[in-house]
Amino acid sequence: MTTEQSFLIEGGNSLHGSVRCSGAKNSILPLVAAAIAVRDVVSFQNVPDISDLQSLLTLIQAMGVKVVSFIDGELVLDTRGPIETHVENTNGYSLRGTQTLVGALLGREHRAMLPSLGGCSIGARPIDLHIKGLRAMGTQFEWKDGYLIGQATALKACDVYLDFPSVGATENLLLAAALAEGTTRVFNAAQEPEVYDLISFLNKAGARIVPVFPFGFRIEGVAQLHGASHRIIGDRIEASTLMVATAITQGEVTITGIDARHIWSIIAKLRETGAMVEVEGDDAVVVKGVPEYRSTDIRTLTFPGYATDAQPPMTAYLTLARGNSVVVESIFENRFGAILELERMGARIKVSEETAIIEGVESLNSATVQAKDLRGGAALVLAGLAAHGTTTVKSIQHIDRGYEALESKLFQLGAHVTRVTQPEA
Ligand code: UD1
Repeated sequence: MTTEQSFLIEGGNSLHGSVRCSGAKNSILPLVAAAIAVRDVVSFQNVPDISDLQSLLTLIQAMGVKVVSFIDGELVLDTRGPIETHVENTNGYSLRGTQTLVGALLGREHRAMLPSLGGCSIGARPIDLHIKGLRAMGTQFEWKDGYLIGQATALKACDVYLDFPSVGATENLLLAAALAEGTTRVFNAAQEPEVYDLISFLNKAGARIVPVFPFGFRIEGVAQLHGASHRIIGDRIEASTLMVATAITQGEVTITGIDARHIWSIIAKLRETGAMVEVEGDDAVVVKGVPEYRSTDIRTLTFPGYATDAQPPMTAYLTLARGNSVVVESIFENRFGAILELERMGARIKVSEETAIIEGVESLNSATVQAKDLRGGAALVLAGLAAHGTTTVKSIQHIDRGYEALESKLFQLGAHVTRVTQPEA
């Protein structure tokens, strides 16, 4: 018999106090891949203990990487030994974070063999742009028995234009080009803070990567990289989630460990609704929620536009705004997975293709709802914090993939959230 975990959330308690963000999920996953390209001992600080990382660590250990230690947010990896380029998904867990192993393995070994990529079921998530760029660098690709196999005799520098500034494709190209012969230029590259975090680490490890105006990178390939230590940036999506949790409960919370420059879109949108947000020093924001907040519209975009990962939490918040809000999801085609569940809690939302029209309601009622993906699951937790009565959010393994101890952080701020384990039929 398998077990399934849920959150029980007693709604109606406003959040107060101070909470620290963990390090960014979307930084640590590509950084682990980068550690493989480095072929040395590397250490990362401010590392979140999330299940996506644990799954990735299990997977790279099977490839021959030594996980030297993971204590108090510091992860030390030793990638000096031989590495298996045939990646097996040993724990059967679908994990999008493996995508950057392609660029890292091609850079280091000129060969990579990976099973199909996983992650949240929020859209088709093709990898054509990754393949196009890596092919231009001399990699031959084929699909065989469910595996993507890439091989190159040598990686050659080239100019690559991405049809869309994909985060994963940009990261793969940076990793491969860091160890290629010659100078690669990537145009229309992703500008997300996590991409710059990866570059910051790679440059400490001896890579030569510089931004080129506008929205590109120049990568002068080097023969080899060396060990380095890097403190990863705070998780802007966790910060956004905690900010919305504060606003939806009309609380007042200081969120530390986050660079406000990474969350301007959410700061602006919360202010538009009437919530108060102040930036404190270099690494904190103070959010103060207000009753009867206003509706607003959002459109998800690449950075610095409104982050798609912060869309589901904002959608939950807008269900209780005064007036109608329009949410346009322009990055992933299937990112309204939480909406049916929010409707079961009394939300009024109409969805047509990439647009959700939310008619604000006076209150949400408690219900038993199902997390279907990571950020949609977090949205349901936020709705539960504001709803009357006790909400059960099931399938919280999706939430554990990317939030470190979410219930402990919310509990510390005064929320009544408990994790329960039930046997699954
Ligand atoms: C990363 C993040 C994810 C975030 C997303 C957008 C990680 C592990 N995940 O995902 O949390 O939501 O960035 O900020 O870092 N696309 C193509 N072809 C490709 C690649 C992408 O068409 O080859 C499309 C995708 O289908 C999607 C859009 O580009 O519509 C954005 O995808 P991308 O930026 O690549 O996201 P990920 O790297 O998968």
